[in-house]
Amino acid sequence: NDVTRKAEQMAQGDFSQEVCVKSNDEIGRLADMFNLLRTQLDMTLFEMSSEKNKMETILKHMADGLIAVNLEGQIIHANPAAIRMLKVTPEEMDSQSYNTLIKQLNEELSLERLMEKCREGELSDVFEKSGCTYSIRFDWFKDEDGNDVGIIILLQDITQRQKLENMQMDFVANVSHELKTPLTTIKSYTETLLDGYVEEPETVNEFLEIIDNETDRMNRLVKDLLQLSRLDNNQEIFSRKEGNLISLLKAAVKKIELTAASKSQHLNCLFNEEERIPVDMDKDRIEQVILNVISNAIKYTGEGGRIDIDALKMEKKAVVTVTDNGIGIPETEQSRVFERFFRVDKARSRALGGTGLGLAISKQIVEGHQGTIELQSKEGKGTKVIITLPLSLKRGIRNIE
Ligand SMILES: Nc1ncnc2c1ncn2[C@@H]1O[C@H](COP(=O)(O)OP(=O)(O)OP(=O)(O)O)[C@@H](O)[C@H]1O
Ligand SMILES: [Mg+2]
Repeated sequence: NDVTRKAEQMAQGDFSQEVCVKSNDEIGRLADMFNLLRTQLDMTLFEMSSEKNKMETILKHMADGLIAVNLEGQIIHANPAAIRMLKVTPEEMDSQSYNTLIKQLNEELSLERLMEKCREGELSDVFEKSGCTYSIRFDWFKDEDGNDVGIIILLQDITQRQKLENMQMDFVANVSHELKTPLTTIKSYTETLLDGYVEEPETVNEFLEIIDNETDRMNRLVKDLLQLSRLDNNQEIFSRKEGNLISLLKAAVKKIELTAASKSQHLNCLFNEEERIPVDMDKDRIEQVILNVISNAIKYTGEGGRIDIDALKMEKKAVVTVTDNGIGIPETEQSRVFERFFRVDKARSRALGGTGLGLAISKQIVEGHQGTIELQSKEGKGTKVIITLPLSLKRGIRNIE
């Protein structure tokens, strides 16, 4: 009776109780065997459920989407990443067929098409949908007898990777182009000189000057590229010391005043020259940023234009603004000016000796100082560049001590 009752309990999933029979006959042996069976079943079930938990945790935390579909087109399993990528609710995932759901991502991924591709041995694909790039891999999954019972699909969002690859290709193309232009000029002028047809010393001089200018441009470009590469690899070590931003601005203005004067522009220093704005900075690098921004203001502002330079403390930040009333930047292009080699008007910038790396380098340097650099502009009205840097806290600490 006890064996029958415990067997019933076991059938309902309760393995906790032992059969208690004290006789030494067949019933006793049966009871012992029964207890052995019970512990082994208990253990096997425990192993199975922990294995299942492990699988579920892995699937749940996977960054890639995983979908299993049976041959009738029902989704047997979809992990959270797949639900996110298909942009559906878990309920929709349960109630709708695979073909209905996948249609919104790509018509080409219907179960029938995937099965066809599997038969042809073509097990992966890449496609785009609303600005995202996905890579998909799929294959049959089989039962114990080796029969195909469905298809398992792995979806990967490779948008970021694709973007990086594109950027890398653009970068190489840009560098080659930027180097090729001066090289072509140098080559053609040296060839003309070597041919010996140019005899007037003035023309020879003029040619040599062009060659000299183009070499300078290539030098600048290579220097900028090397600096960018050092910044990218975190090899540019900033030697940061506390310094007064106002003195740095005054020095920078002095250096570039003449360039502005040559375009009859005046650099208006609106900041209080007596104030002290302490910032932990690599002076040379921050000066490079300031000179870059002011030289942009000069370059992209016409004769007699106005350029204002201001600096103040705001909360825990130092804020520097450089405002011009120059040609401005069209709204659609504004977000791109910090990109490498980006120039609104390539021909114009190049004529002014620009390579389009100035703001990209400035951004890296400012961010390396935990600061920000942004730009507001109106086409035809002017541009304002705002740089913020964290104020040096050293003084404060000293005061507390
Ligand atoms: N103050 C400004 N007014 C109008 N356009 C600007 C201004 N500053 C930057 N730009 C635009 O942003 C682009 C990128 O500026 P950036 O300083 O990176 O390059 P660049 O001045 O062309 O060359 P480089 O600084 O390397 O000599 C410029 O080509 C220009 O089109
Ligand atoms: Mg510039």
